[in-house]
Amino acid sequence: MHDTLLLFGATGDLAQRYLFPSLLHLLRDRLLPPTFRVVAVGRTGLDDADFGQWLRERLDDGDGRDADVLDDLLARTRYLSLDLNDPEAMRTALSQYADRPSVSYLSTPPDLFVPACRGLKAAGLLEGQSRLVLEKPIGRDLASACAINATLGSALDESRIFRIDHYLGKAPVQNLLALRFGNTLMEAVWQHRWIASVDILVAETAGVDGREGYYANYGALRDMVQNHMLQLLALVAMEPPSELSANTVRDEKTKVLRALRPMTARDVAIDSVRGRYDTGVVEGEAVNGFTHDSDVETFVALRAYIDNWRWAGVPFRLVTGKRMPSRTTEVVVSFKPVSHWVFERPDRERARPNRLRMRLQPEETIELGLMGSLAAPEWGATELQPMSLDLSMSPTPARRIAHERLLVDALKGDQTLFVRDDEVEAAWGWIDSVSSAWQEAATPVHNYPAGSWGPAAASDFLPVTLSTRGQRKQGGKQTGKPAA
Ligand code: BG6
Repeated sequence: MHDTLLLFGATGDLAQRYLFPSLLHLLRDRLLPPTFRVVAVGRTGLDDADFGQWLRERLDDGDGRDADVLDDLLARTRYLSLDLNDPEAMRTALSQYADRPSVSYLSTPPDLFVPACRGLKAAGLLEGQSRLVLEKPIGRDLASACAINATLGSALDESRIFRIDHYLGKAPVQNLLALRFGNTLMEAVWQHRWIASVDILVAETAGVDGREGYYANYGALRDMVQNHMLQLLALVAMEPPSELSANTVRDEKTKVLRALRPMTARDVAIDSVRGRYDTGVVEGEAVNGFTHDSDVETFVALRAYIDNWRWAGVPFRLVTGKRMPSRTTEVVVSFKPVSHWVFERPDRERARPNRLRMRLQPEETIELGLMGSLAAPEWGATELQPMSLDLSMSPTPARRIAHERLLVDALKGDQTLFVRDDEVEAAWGWIDSVSSAWQEAATPVHNYPAGSWGPAAASDFLPVTLSTRGQRKQGGKQTGKPAA
């Protein structure tokens, strides 16, 4: 395990909210090497003592529980103020840390990846076994992602490049793999013959607040779908890997992303909805709308198709939005109706097909909807009713911050939960098809009140399991025809 972490963007939002708290927890749990050291690099002109004070104010929870660990973390941390556009300054300040293999973590805007990479190279920090970690977004479209990947590739080998998608560091997201490949029951029916549709929903109550500059240039499609949502889709849809190694898993995910059917201007008219939140009320609080002078969406609904043998014809509905009524991330797999219905009650029109609902956050639950007659009177044993098999861990296990897992993996050199160059490019390729189709079709951005489930036009894209009813009709019409 490497023991030197160079953290670029050290005074940024991600560093203070997730990266330093993660390091604190890892240190507390003795998951870092005894010689662990941090070189924190930011733009702000601070000395070690100022930075230590700044960090202490953000990490100190006030109850003194982790006071010793916090002191320890600060003692291991040096702060440097540097311009990442200046390779010579980087070389001068950083080459002293090239004495042993290190991990350089770029928690910076993507336009700094290329210059930072040059400076790190000049300082000798990308040589030997040293590694580079990059936060999303990797570029803004396929061309810029390819340019970043090409620069990275000329500086160090792909086996030492770690692109973060923090959703992959979430334990319930990893559980998607466990459920799929650890159970005969799942894999046997995991295909178009038995599955009618898949819903992936990532709803947030938070708004864009404080990130307008970045967001206005990205929007929900690039900020959420290109990475987190497509990673969830890839985990749900990939073929079973022959083993759980970094490249086999990433090979299979990449194949799925490459098989996504590109969208055309005609497709987006029926298979997409864009929205932007207006003023409204979220969790009882009045909030402002997103008024930035750009035409980006804060909500997107897409119906995607994967053109391969397993998923032919199965719609994957992807919905994500900010300022929704509740924070909910879930994957819902809806199965086809049984091929032949023999029961009088309910009639086949009212029989509810099986549905597997995997809720990933905030709670972690798995719910399987079945039909059964357990609740019927004895003499009416053929009267079926929907029943639910509920799996939840009680109490919900305390989960680590996703970045804790990813930091440890990067320090150890395990790439399984990181995104490979071809994977990121395959995802951008599909996203580019959507954004250029939107442009060609002049797809409108509908306003929706903050605290609602998005524009009315998107109601057919929402999972039927959503606690808000009435926006989407319960299920589709059941035909009772043979499933395949
Ligand atoms: C980030 C996006 O990658 O993920 C944010 O840039 C979004 O806009 C966040 O809010 C959501 O992450 P989580 O872990 O809170 O679901």
